Amino acid sequence: MIEDVKAQNELVSVVEQYVRLDKRSSSNLFGLCPFHAEKTPSFSVSPTKQIYYCFGCHKGGDVIHFIMDIEKMSYPDAIRYLAERAGIQIPEPDDIEWQARQERRKRLQMICLEAARQFYRNLISPHGERIRIYLQNRGLHTSTSTRFGLGFALDEWDGLLNHLKGLGYTDEEELLQSGLFKRGKNEHLYDLFRNRLMFPIFDAMGRIIAFGGRVIDDSMPKYINSPETPIYSKGRHLYALNLAKSSKQNHLLIVEGYMDAIALHQAGIRQTVASLGTALTENQAQLLRKYTEQVIIAYDADAAGQAATLRSLDVLAKKGLKVSVLQVPDGQDPDSYIRDYGPERFHALMDRSLPLLDYKLFSAKKESTINGELDPIIYQEQACAILAREQNAIVRELYANQLAEELQASPESVLIEIDRRRNKGSDETARHHEAVQQEKTTIRTQPDSAVTREELYLLGLIATEPSLVQTIDISPEDFSKGPVQNLAAEMLKRANSGDLTPSMLIDLCEGQTIQEKPLPDLMARVCMRLEDLFGQQDLEKAAEEQLWKQRKKKLRCRLDEIRCDLGTVDNPEQQTCLKNELLEVTRQLTRLKQKMGPEPEEKESKT
Ligand code: GTP
Ligand code: MN
Repeated sequence: MIEDVKAQNELVSVVEQYVRLDKRSSSNLFGLCPFHAEKTPSFSVSPTKQIYYCFGCHKGGDVIHFIMDIEKMSYPDAIRYLAERAGIQIPEPDDIEWQARQERRKRLQMICLEAARQFYRNLISPHGERIRIYLQNRGLHTSTSTRFGLGFALDEWDGLLNHLKGLGYTDEEELLQSGLFKRGKNEHLYDLFRNRLMFPIFDAMGRIIAFGGRVIDDSMPKYINSPETPIYSKGRHLYALNLAKSSKQNHLLIVEGYMDAIALHQAGIRQTVASLGTALTENQAQLLRKYTEQVIIAYDADAAGQAATLRSLDVLAKKGLKVSVLQVPDGQDPDSYIRDYGPERFHALMDRSLPLLDYKLFSAKKESTINGELDPIIYQEQACAILAREQNAIVRELYANQLAEELQASPESVLIEIDRRRNKGSDETARHHEAVQQEKTTIRTQPDSAVTREELYLLGLIATEPSLVQTIDISPEDFSKGPVQNLAAEMLKRANSGDLTPSMLIDLCEGQTIQEKPLPDLMARVCMRLEDLFGQQDLEKAAEEQLWKQRKKKLRCRLDEIRCDLGTVDNPEQQTCLKNELLEVTRQLTRLKQKMGPEPEEKESKT
């Protein structure tokens, strides 16, 4: 199944949906890496091996890993995605209910897509002229409007309804579920969005799942949004994330409104997503965390200070995101600001955004300032409460020093006040926190120490030239015990039946790491560099040489172990046993060295 999916998704054609590739060396194509920012291409794709590797950021793999990395999908999701791309039916779980639900979701997505198409057609038709002028007056280019799929819902009660029925969507229950219609008192459905500028809402994969509609006059409500539906729930999505996720910035910028996000994208600030006016949920924080470690929040001046906003910032911080706050000057939002002052001034605001803690203290100070005078009693009360919630003791102390200076108090007394608040309310939470920390340290991964460069080369050589296993005498025991040995066993089996390619090797490595590095990346690197490493050499000779070096290393390693054991074991029987093994291993090593000939001692070069 996996092999079918890969065969039907040629790597170069998939990569080219994201990266412009040029032919640069005889066998490989090169392009600008989509996974890190760079000016000269170090991202290489081998059409023959069907693998890719970036010499800059060391990401590599086959077509499945490419989709995992670029779309942030799990392994099974990436396979499902590629299967769909190639029109392959994949056996879904035997769960009839689940299948029916999937089917329903797909149809609702189709309804949304057809609706968006119709709204777009309305916008470019003569009926849409008013809206086009409105967009133009707001400084939106036609290309931007098209990229965001903007459209127009006609001033009719059943324009969309009739259109969809004409396309064969006649099941009224289903139409209701799409969120685009309501049922009137006379039991008839009618269009929810009428005479509005339409914003399709995309999920992170770029599928349309809901809509927002804005009036273009002063009537109320200014916006209406799709209700919750089987494919859309407000707190689970972020507007424009489908575009922002590939911006290559180390952060995402969060704004409130549709127009803010669109205007910033148009100005080249493509790392922008919009929360659409609601408080951020844990789900959205989790979603953000998938794509970045750092977020900048850019809310209107009046919104940013509000308690609800501050709470949603804490939600982000709790998920491990580094949060800072950009302040848009009073009376403006990011959209109007960038239109009035341009992208450069907006970038300056970004540079001046405050880390969350500084921002909270700054807000507390503003609140404690009455008629232009800072009330130190109110301020210290609020500031100490804020600092008491900070988990890191060093950070607490640094800020306490700063606060002491501001208040002309001693750092000691400030720290005492902070600690008093910590001990009071938060005993419970602190204990929980400690327990979690402890758990984290105890389940740290064991280092897989002994894996050598040679065995990785061997795996690469065999994957590239499976017939090697017929001429060199190699067995799984030549590899380090553990994941690499299991991998080798599976590969040797496949190589013997002639059914092995580099990209299969990479799939066999899925989910495994060596010294905390993902094995698929390492193996992609090895396979990609085989020609560099052994280009002039006969592959068989190269493999033999690697095999001998590998055996030598293993034997030497065993010698060290035996010598070490001899020092600690007192049981005479065990002693004899170890001594015999010592002799045997030494003999093997000598034999091996003779076979290898006057091999120059290997230099330790870094792979
Ligand atoms: P413009 O006025 O077109 O610039 O829109 P905006 O995006 O700046 O709107 P605003 O800052 O007023 O609101 C931010 C976001 O909150 C909007 O993008 C909407 O998602 C949401 N919102 C605003 N007004 C309403 C409303 O009346 N109803 C609903 N449901 N949502 C609204
Ligand atoms: Mn606005």
